[in-house]
Amino acid sequence: MVIEYELQAECGGARAGLLRTPHGTFKTPMFMPVGTQATVKTLTPEELYDMGAQVILSNTYHLFLRPGEDLVREAGGLHRFMNWKRAVLTDSGGFQVFSLGRMRRITEEGVTFRSHIDGSEKFLSPEVSMTVQMALNADIAMTFDECIPYPSDYEYTRLSTERTSRWARRCLDSHRSDTQGLFGIVQGGMYKDLRKKSAADLVAMNFEGYGIGGLSVGESKDIMYDILDGTVPYLPREKARYLMGVGTPDCLIEGVARGIDMFDCVFPTRVARNGMAMTGTGRVNVRNAGYARDFGPLEESCGCYTCRNYTRAYIRHLFKAEELLAYRLVSIHNLYFLLNFMRRMRESVLNGTFAAFRENFWSRYRDS
Ligand code: GUN
Ligand code: ZN
Repeated sequence: MVIEYELQAECGGARAGLLRTPHGTFKTPMFMPVGTQATVKTLTPEELYDMGAQVILSNTYHLFLRPGEDLVREAGGLHRFMNWKRAVLTDSGGFQVFSLGRMRRITEEGVTFRSHIDGSEKFLSPEVSMTVQMALNADIAMTFDECIPYPSDYEYTRLSTERTSRWARRCLDSHRSDTQGLFGIVQGGMYKDLRKKSAADLVAMNFEGYGIGGLSVGESKDIMYDILDGTVPYLPREKARYLMGVGTPDCLIEGVARGIDMFDCVFPTRVARNGMAMTGTGRVNVRNAGYARDFGPLEESCGCYTCRNYTRAYIRHLFKAEELLAYRLVSIHNLYFLLNFMRRMRESVLNGTFAAFRENFWSRYRDS
């Protein structure tokens, strides 16, 4: 096994652990910043190290289309290409092809789609995704799956989930690497019996960790939490569990409470570029007129580079003037906020005070 998970402490359903990878051992629960195009938008690796980022996520779909996996292999793999010395995880393309690819056609063999860049016809399958991910050589690769749209009826969900299990087997059979681990992805839509079956199929294949996909696709948070309650118990205790595409503070804390160890989401960096700062009491849009003369930081208690050095009034001015520094400053704050939030959550699990941490969070947080 290239990837190993060590469970250190449990507090209710929440877990604290260590994830061993070829690029170091990292602390869970963790949030993985997203670097879709082999860059976490607007930030340098040094800035990411400084705020404590451990594993970053990149995308097979995008790098396959541009610059192509052969170029990244020639550069010495994704780590060398982008100058990132800690761990990388690549998603399989099984999500982007469904959300970005145009005119897609799914068959048992794989998915034919049109590139969102130049409209040319492309094909991804379990084998192609493994070939691309092996060339990228991230520490963790993900199986090629279908992220089922919401809502979907039972029959479609059943057929798709069964195909995703067959695709997972094909990924396992074609993946060969001593420098890269492979995680399976549980699907099953919003049907608990299909989630259970999907988890059982994948666990029987003995992956090095398990992603939970097909959530945060438009369903309510209560449904997502309920599906997690109906999925996590079927995953092995001794492997890492990764809730894919989830990254708001409320969902992170509720995911951890249900036994999730890893998360990723474009949310913190995407909303940052719209002027949205994440805080312990909810979101703040720094572009609002009310902050024109606010000479305090984005968040009073925050220790990030942005909050130590800049005011809301200044950042608002940068947004109004469409200055590039605006995007960087709020991205730095949002990622620091989430990474720090995960560190504090992990500490509370180790100290046995996670329940109080969760209660305190909910007494302060306003969803908006
Ligand atoms: N990212 C968010 N959800 C999913 C999913 O269902 N599958 C994959 N591969 N990536 C995701
Ligand atoms: Zn800050």
